[in-house]
Amino acid sequence: MNAVPGVGRPTRPDAVASPAAPAHPGKGLAQDEPLIFELGGWDKTGVDFSAKARGGDRDSSDLEGLTRAVPLRLPGLSEPETLRHYVRLSQKNHAIDLALYPLGSCTMKHNPRMGEKLARLAGFADIHPLQPISTVQGALALMGQLAHWLKTLTGMPAIALSPKAGAHGELCGLLAIRAAHEARGDARKTVLVPTSAHGTNPATAALAGYQVAQIAQTADGHVDLADLAGKLHPDVAAVMVTNPNTCGLFERDVIEIARLTHEAGAYFYCDGANFNAIVGRVRPGDLGVDAMHINLHKTFSTPHGGGGPGAGPVVLSAALAPYAPIPWLTQGEAGFDLTEEATGGAKSSVGRMCAFHGQMGMFVRALAYMKSHGSDGLLRVAEDAVLNANYVKARLSGVMTASYPDGPCMHEVLFDDRWLEGTGVSTLDFAKAMIDAGFHPMTMYFPLVVRGAMLIEPTETESRRELDRFCDTLLDLAAAVRARDVERFKGAPFHAPLRRLDETLAARKPRLAWTL
Ligand SMILES: Cc1ncc(COP(=O)(O)O)c(C=O)c1O
Repeated sequence: MNAVPGVGRPTRPDAVASPAAPAHPGKGLAQDEPLIFELGGWDKTGVDFSAKARGGDRDSSDLEGLTRAVPLRLPGLSEPETLRHYVRLSQKNHAIDLALYPLGSCTMKHNPRMGEKLARLAGFADIHPLQPISTVQGALALMGQLAHWLKTLTGMPAIALSPKAGAHGELCGLLAIRAAHEARGDARKTVLVPTSAHGTNPATAALAGYQVAQIAQTADGHVDLADLAGKLHPDVAAVMVTNPNTCGLFERDVIEIARLTHEAGAYFYCDGANFNAIVGRVRPGDLGVDAMHINLHKTFSTPHGGGGPGAGPVVLSAALAPYAPIPWLTQGEAGFDLTEEATGGAKSSVGRMCAFHGQMGMFVRALAYMKSHGSDGLLRVAEDAVLNANYVKARLSGVMTASYPDGPCMHEVLFDDRWLEGTGVSTLDFAKAMIDAGFHPMTMYFPLVVRGAMLIEPTETESRRELDRFCDTLLDLAAAVRARDVERFKGAPFHAPLRRLDETLAARKPRLAWTL
């Protein structure tokens, strides 16, 4: 591809000079990378148009006077320049395909390539939500099977597949709860959430129009039952509890939590984001749960969606089922259908959570994962996730302070910063030094209930060799802390394209648009 001055791109009328391509001040093979706008010039294009296409007669003939009069303001790069830009960008990301990715609460686990391959089959990837229903019977049958598996694994009678992420599922569940209360003429105002909850829980409750009140936590990391009982007044619409919770512990009093909640006329919403720790072993429906979202990306290994395009289906109890969002998947003599007709209980639906039926690609991947494991294999997934987290806990506990040292943890292990006290190294410093050592940091400073939290979730997809490599690295760093090698931490990361960023400024004044 040649750079052809002035071709395929009108000259900028205000004659602003092309941005000068900056050098790549990378370190070794770790390239720093400018924005594509800084890289590409206005005066070139990666496409060679034919003489006719770029001829002066274009206005009058081919384009019938529709030639662009103002510049498109897209940077011009040749094909190799473009490819290299995106490949370099991709190399700036840490990825689960590079190494163990210990982000607690996020469940960064391997996405089997078989699921990717199946999701790309034309019969799934190329269909359109508006095409005639008779032509997508296979896809709807797949959704039906997925719904069946999810209802069976959770022991719940109804499901909404359409929510696009865990937080979107929370909203769906709370809207159904609100509709159910309102249908009884009992519009309640408050949702109770434990102090250790993921930030999306109170945020979702607020978005659904509720006031949020906190439930205290016991010293050993569980919901404080006495505090819950004291706060369950007639205005409480729902109690939202994550189980296993974000401290990596199973809420041992979950049945009592459900009983107290129901006794107060409220609904029990379970944040099922951590279902990967109990799938195949515990059915939330048996514990008294009324609504629960499932992060398909965490338990059933679909790629993370970043708030969508992921999938966060919600299972619902019989009491909430009539309020499920449309469309509903039905099966009759003529086959499958997506219906939103106001028949039976359908009048009570909360409406649509999104334009169509949800994320087909994620449905395919999740069902492929379930079928390739079978129900026994899914139990093994949960057991291995818990085993791996306890292996990490056992190896690191002698050096780092486990927040809840007694007994095993579930799928993630929580450390705090007591072991760093007086060393001059903070949780943030330690995490930055992990980057130099080739690992993505664990989740830091969450949950908020312990100081300087470090939440590690290895997932079931890591081998013992990789777990050891990770633990050895952290133990090596811990030895450097003890040796007071503070510079190794304060200055870290040394081996990344960018060093310490001003995280407050980045969060408070993000620059999200490129301007000249
Ligand atoms: C406990 C918990 N709840 C809710 C969510 C929100 O899920 P999503 O990121 O898919 O919106 C997460 C995400 O990691 C989570 O860990």
